[in-house]
Amino acid sequence: MKPQEFARRRRQLSRMIGKGGVAVLAAAPVRMRNRDTEYPYRQDSDFYYLTGFNEPEAVAVLVPGRAQAEYIVFCRERDPAREAWDGPRLGPEGVIGDLGADDAFPIEDIDDILPGLLESCERVYHTMGAHPEFDARVIGWVNALRERGPDTHAPQEFVSLDHLLHDMRLYKSRAEQAAMRRAARIGVAAHLRAMRAVRPGMMEYEVEAEFLHEFRRHGAVPSYPPIVGGGNNACTLHYIANAARLADGDLLLIDAGCELEHYACDITRTFPVSGRFSDAQRAIYDIVLEAHDAAIAAVAPGRHWNEPHDAAVRVITRGLRGLGLLDGRLTTLIKEQAYRRYFMHKTGHWLGMDVHDVGDYRVGDVARMLEPGMVMTIEPGIYIPRGLRGVPKRWQGIGVRIEDDILVTRNGCEVLTAGVPVEAQAIEALMAAQAAA
Ligand code: GLY
Ligand code: MN
Ligand code: MN
Repeated sequence: MKPQEFARRRRQLSRMIGKGGVAVLAAAPVRMRNRDTEYPYRQDSDFYYLTGFNEPEAVAVLVPGRAQAEYIVFCRERDPAREAWDGPRLGPEGVIGDLGADDAFPIEDIDDILPGLLESCERVYHTMGAHPEFDARVIGWVNALRERGPDTHAPQEFVSLDHLLHDMRLYKSRAEQAAMRRAARIGVAAHLRAMRAVRPGMMEYEVEAEFLHEFRRHGAVPSYPPIVGGGNNACTLHYIANAARLADGDLLLIDAGCELEHYACDITRTFPVSGRFSDAQRAIYDIVLEAHDAAIAAVAPGRHWNEPHDAAVRVITRGLRGLGLLDGRLTTLIKEQAYRRYFMHKTGHWLGMDVHDVGDYRVGDVARMLEPGMVMTIEPGIYIPRGLRGVPKRWQGIGVRIEDDILVTRNGCEVLTAGVPVEAQAIEALMAAQAAA
């Protein structure tokens, strides 16, 4: 993403904060996996959104209207000896030259410099709770000013930064939409590859490996641990062990997506290991597909956040009732949420830099109205684990979810992940073509 995109975001936030405000954001810390081995570094999404800076041990400060410098960054200095181990650092000069900071200082100097930046401000905009140690430091810098005595001005107010920033992040710019299309394209390729690769007898982790290879070969990483669940494992919503053998005759549920340039995709497909749905599997599958289609049809500007979910609930409840898996009046079953026995999660979530992205789902008492630029998932499912009481055997061990990523457009919506087939027949045709090849 170009530096101008980040500059535009900082200008937008600065306008909202206004003169007298100061925003303070910390980079994500390096996290240890065990002993001296680190997890791959992932920058804090808010921090990256405003800075485009991908290093730990940094603090960004935005002081709208300040004469000398409005955008100041504290970061690690260049250090050839350390860089030989950990790779290059931008250093203060690089942050000014490459990332458009007005001024930049070594992170070691922050206690001396930052209180001075806060002194002229009334309101400190900060995201409390994301990094508790950093919260304590921000309070410490304000207190340091207060302790200087009555002649020193100190900000009087802490304001939640996430409220402003997360509303900005909810509306994806053209550059962000393009990034999300790129991530989606890789996710789609990986799902197609898996559909072609699956054979009875394979291990779930072998299928996972197809995803990891496809992601990494395009420079992407998984945006969450892939879920590759055959048969009954599909009924465990967060199944990530991926350690079982795929049985002929079972369905396989794969929920896997990648992150590219800090933007995520999130895709689920469910298909038969053998390449052919059984009648029972197909009956459940087609209900979920109908719910998926009905939910997507409810995504358009002016519709509300709850409408896709309500549409999916109606289709799933009616379908399960038709199969005899729910018993009662349709309206009563919906009102009493009887479907939750089989469909226990929401139909979607915001999607962006985080898989479960930021942004309010309600405004006051009302579900949020959908507007162009918002991106959400649509992911209805039906899960009937083995041993579920009162359910005939033929339905047991079937778990189905279908998940796509949807951009709200001016006229309706765009399915970013439409490249992976969802129709049962189309999936069977794709798998049959592969088997014949
Ligand atoms: N993969 C996480 C989700 O579908 O929400
Ligand atoms: Mn999802
Ligand atoms: Mn998912």
